[in-house]
Amino acid sequence: MTISQAVDLFEAELRMCGVTEGETVAVLSQTEPQRIYARDFLTAATRLGADAYEVALPSQATAGGLDAVGVTPLSGNRSAIEALKHADLMIDLVFLLFSVEQQEIQDSGTRILLCLEPIDVLRRLLPTPELRERVEFAADIYSRAESLRFTNGFGTDVTYSLGQYPVMTEYGYTDEAGRWDHWPSGFLFSGARDDGVEGRVVIAPGDIVYPFNRYVESPIELTIEAGRITDISGGVDADLMADYMRGFDDEKAYGISHIGWGLNERCRWSSLAADARGIGMEGRAFYGNVLFSTGPNQELGGSNDTACHFDIPMRNCTLYLDDEPIVIEGDVVVEDMRPRAGA
Ligand SMILES: [Fe+2]
Repeated sequence: MTISQAVDLFEAELRMCGVTEGETVAVLSQTEPQRIYARDFLTAATRLGADAYEVALPSQATAGGLDAVGVTPLSGNRSAIEALKHADLMIDLVFLLFSVEQQEIQDSGTRILLCLEPIDVLRRLLPTPELRERVEFAADIYSRAESLRFTNGFGTDVTYSLGQYPVMTEYGYTDEAGRWDHWPSGFLFSGARDDGVEGRVVIAPGDIVYPFNRYVESPIELTIEAGRITDISGGVDADLMADYMRGFDDEKAYGISHIGWGLNERCRWSSLAADARGIGMEGRAFYGNVLFSTGPNQELGGSNDTACHFDIPMRNCTLYLDDEPIVIEGDVVVEDMRPRAGA
């Protein structure tokens, strides 16, 4: 993709984000590859008449990322944080998710778009209002439910007691003050009441484990009691997961985190098999997956701040809200959550 095409793509995304003349757009970058995206976002924002600027952090600042969530190169950089709070929209090329800095910037009213994936993935998965409508329809139903239960053919049967935490949507753009989103995406999630998860989750062959970025080859059986994993058993995949979790030496690592399902029919389950770039949004958002996760729940407003976080998109699951089926064996069965013909 040439530079001008990237600018065109970013301009389309910024339009989706409601950027208009006179708005302020800030781009947060740190590394040289991020600065290429920053340059093109600034050009795109300027085309739309926005005031645009880049906050470029020193490359030697503390590395954050998915292996140590909550730690960011922005920590303690008061001037940079204040500069970002002045923006109407901030493009995060660094990864501030789960950090107190991100929360402070959002609380100031700045909306935030996270953007980390390769340019061809961004282009292929440019979001649409149609996807947003389906995700928001699902969120409306989810937010009124009192319980979520999901099963699979490998013995999963687990129930989440809902109501304490909000439902969060991700559809790939954000035009509401203070709201965060991630391009690309296309799913929704919430979390159980503290201590409110009971049952068994059996991660099946073919399910994806992030941050390992690999497909499971042997079942991993998790016993969950009062919102905590109390036993991990299985073969080598279970050993990997258990050993990784032990390495954090943190009881909070065994908490259960967000739970939801994917609605983006353009995302492929198989994408990770041939493309190891990016951070796996395609694997998290593919249509009909149940996205099970462990660890921190600060994103939802909870108190678990462990740095040990697994996102585990599971295939062929059946998911119920208050005993009403939403996903049956990996297929979404609620009409208004399904892709519209011709959309
Ligand atoms: Fe997650």
